[in-house]
Amino acid sequence: MIRALHPIAGVTGLLTIAAFWTSTVAAEAFGSDATVLAVKTAILWSLLLLVPALAITGITGVRMAGGSADPRIVRKRRRMPVIALNGLLVLVPCAVFLQARAAAGEFGGAFIAVQAIELLAGAANLTLIGMNLRDGLALARRTAAA
Ligand code: HEM
Repeated sequence: MIRALHPIAGVTGLLTIAAFWTSTVAAEAFGSDATVLAVKTAILWSLLLLVPALAITGITGVRMAGGSADPRIVRKRRRMPVIALNGLLVLVPCAVFLQARAAAGEFGGAFIAVQAIELLAGAANLTLIGMNLRDGLALARRTAAA
């Protein structure tokens, strides 16, 4: 059960952040203020999916890993708190701030600065989650071969 849940939750987290990132860049490059507000509001609601998905990924991963000293598991375990803290301390507050500013029609310097931070933090989490996915697939191949 947790072996099936873990990759589904992990891939859901990866796809959700990838969708945030691409829709933000597309809306701000080509969309109207109304489109940007729609995207920022959709992102805020999707946090209800993203936060539990990443929590489930972390909890199921740690349970499957047990006390393993496999270097891929050690790396995955080390990356997970960075992913979680980056999400909770940077991405969530940025999403709340940007949606409020967009709703007020304020797209000035503060919006742009926080938007830049959100895109950088999002790219960092995409990279770390992608690395965990790659190591996870290698671990699963090893288990299947054993
Ligand atoms: C966002 C973070 C993570 C993602 C995206 C992710 C993704 C994956 C994926 C795709 C698999 C392959 C599953 C399969 O094909 O059957 C996997 C396996 C695995 N993951 Fe993760 N993972 C993450 C975090 C973690 C963490 C924090 C741990 C704990 C240290 C962990 C431990 C494991 C273990 C032990 C397996 C191997 C299961 C087996 O032997 O079949 N993962 N992971």
